[in-house]
Amino acid sequence: MDTTAGPGVLVRLRPDAGDRAADHAALAELVGAARIRHRCLACGADDHGAPEAVLADGGSTAGHVSLARAGGWVALATSSTGRVGVDIEEIARVAASRFDDVAFDDRERARLDRLDRLDRLATRDAENPHASQRMRARLWSAKEAILKVAGTGLRTDPRSLGIDPGIAPDDGPRTDARLTLVRSAVPGIRPQAIQLHEIDAPPGLVGFICILPDDAGRQSFGSALE
Ligand SMILES: CC(C)(COP(=O)(O)OP(=O)(O)OC[C@H]1O[C@@H](n2cnc3c(N)ncnc32)[C@H](O)[C@@H]1OP(=O)(O)O)[C@@H](O)C(=O)NCCC(=O)NCCS
Repeated sequence: MDTTAGPGVLVRLRPDAGDRAADHAALAELVGAARIRHRCLACGADDHGAPEAVLADGGSTAGHVSLARAGGWVALATSSTGRVGVDIEEIARVAASRFDDVAFDDRERARLDRLDRLDRLATRDAENPHASQRMRARLWSAKEAILKVAGTGLRTDPRSLGIDPGIAPDDGPRTDARLTLVRSAVPGIRPQAIQLHEIDAPPGLVGFICILPDDAGRQSFGSALE
């Protein structure tokens, strides 16, 4: 299942066969690279961290890549326009993790609490019985996608990002409204600079892709990216 989130951006969803090397080979092929290598910004190791597509001679390709796994699926993302982060999440798994306190800022938690109350009152439409759970997974997935662009992942406190869920506090079932990053204390991640798109995910899953266009990246990260 392929989708695009704008020019030069491709997301491919495929069943997770539990074969990490095969995932990397598929990601490399998608961007015309020889292989995927990793480099951990925290410890320098090459067996984990942000993925990078490289040519046979070890040189970088023009394509940026990202990868995520959840619920039996793998999401592979490539972008020729700037750094990319993709994330997919299983709605039920996020709901079960009960990590609101460490994942969401006060404003996000207030919105989720309100949606939880509406869910309990069963005031929403029957076709969307777990709106709060879906929104919780969407907010979390958007944050992970953004933190993959930052390259730090969850070493960065996810509460340093503030996302507007696109609904008024009393809105009921509209959990498909567009999410927007409105606050960021993460170096290099300016809300005006990033592009955040929801991706079509298999049933029970949600997913987001974040792109930091090259021009914006140079302005944000300066020579660190050169
Ligand atoms: C990035 C992160 C949020 C992904 O978490 P997850 O929900 O377990 O996994 P996902 O399925 O969503 O994504 C996994 C992919 O994210 C990518 N990834 C890992 N670390 C990344 C990072 N720092 N930045 C961007 N992408 C990263 C990798 O491609 C990984 O798959 P791969 O290793 O097979 O290539 C998490 O791994 C993390 O926070 N990592 C940083 C932690 C860290 O730096 N620790 C210090 C270690 S010394």
